[in-house]
Amino acid sequence: MKILVTGGTGYIGSHTAVELIKKGHDVVLLDNLYNSNVNVIKRIEKITGYCPEFYNVDILDKTNLKKVFEGNKFDAIIHFAGYKAVGESVSIPLTYYQNNIAGSLNLYEMMQEFGCNNIVFSSSATVYGDDFEVPFKESYGLGTTTNPYGTTKKFNEIILTDFANANHDISCVLLRYFNPIGAHESGLLGEVPNGIPNNLVPYIAKVASGELEYLRVFGNDYPTVDGTGVRDYIHVVDLARAHVLAIEYAVAHKGAEVINVGSGKGYSVLEVLHAYEKACGKELPYKILERRPGDIATCYADTKKAKELLGFEVEYDIEKMCEDSYRFTVMNPNGID
Ligand code: NAD
Ligand code: UD1
Repeated sequence: MKILVTGGTGYIGSHTAVELIKKGHDVVLLDNLYNSNVNVIKRIEKITGYCPEFYNVDILDKTNLKKVFEGNKFDAIIHFAGYKAVGESVSIPLTYYQNNIAGSLNLYEMMQEFGCNNIVFSSSATVYGDDFEVPFKESYGLGTTTNPYGTTKKFNEIILTDFANANHDISCVLLRYFNPIGAHESGLLGEVPNGIPNNLVPYIAKVASGELEYLRVFGNDYPTVDGTGVRDYIHVVDLARAHVLAIEYAVAHKGAEVINVGSGKGYSVLEVLHAYEKACGKELPYKILERRPGDIATCYADTKKAKELLGFEVEYDIEKMCEDSYRFTVMNPNGID
């Protein structure tokens, strides 16, 4: 299949491109390089032996986006392009709504105009908000989002569901990711956070490399195994494999389907820290701080639907996630350049 991957040079997009190429798909990447480096493409080629075609295009630029569709007949789209920093979205909400909603609408309009009927969209467990009991089930529906980033994910889910309801040829798989971490085991692809990381594992990686002094653990008085927050971490390569299955599901079915992608297991902040210590072979300092505003105690996925509809199960455990993250950190002290 010929598949357009928007945000294809980004963290999850690049790993997904590798898995799609491995399965023999014809992959076309599109990205405006706002949060990624063009050299990611060479690394994808190094891993797979194949250099995917790349368009340096902004999804907000409708003229150039249209040219991409005029030059290609896509069977399907995987739509990763978007901004993703929760804190930043609170400060500049209109920028987030413009990029993540107006940009996405441009893409959906191209689908309609050029008869591309299948899409997989990057949603997030954040759409459950803190309204529901764990494990989070797709049947709960949409919760109350707590920041504009989360709201852009929720709106995209609603827009794509309406699109599929109105056009019976359309198929949308809305993947709700839990916490993707880790890196490609070659050490060539991984997450390169901008500035001081907000997310747990990128922060721990910088403590392990000596760039940051200690981990700040946000709260140890939650009703969890050791009082620290519990999340469902998933290896980015497992998540990438889920996209290959999701795109195959999309072309074989019609309508909109929401599917969780997680491991179904929860790990506390301290459990992740200890797994990382094992991976890097040293003790990592930490201090307990106040809870981070907006955080919930526990979040993990009900994974039954992913298994039933996609046949998806995770392969990699938390140790492997930390080992691969650490290898990428050591091999790429300046990120991907
Ligand atoms: P990323 O920032 O590494 O990748 C996103 C890519 O999109 C970047 O390469 C960026 O340059 C590109 N981009 C942004 N705006 C664009 C635009 N207007 N036009 C073209 N390209 C544009 O992020 P990621 O971690 O790979 O996340 C991919 C998707 O998955 C995002 O939509 C994100 O919101 C979603 N998601 C991520 C996580 C996570 O923890 N990483 C969790 C849930 C959902
Ligand atoms: C966060 C976002 C979520 C987004 C996801 C992307 C918030 C409130 N939620 O989820 O919308 O989809 O990232 O991956 O920002 N922690 C520390 N110290 C740190 C960093 C984190 O103790 O330096 C703790 C947190 O309190 C939490 C856990 O580690 O208990 C995981 O945090 P994080 O990696 O930021 O992910 P989420 O909060 O689950």
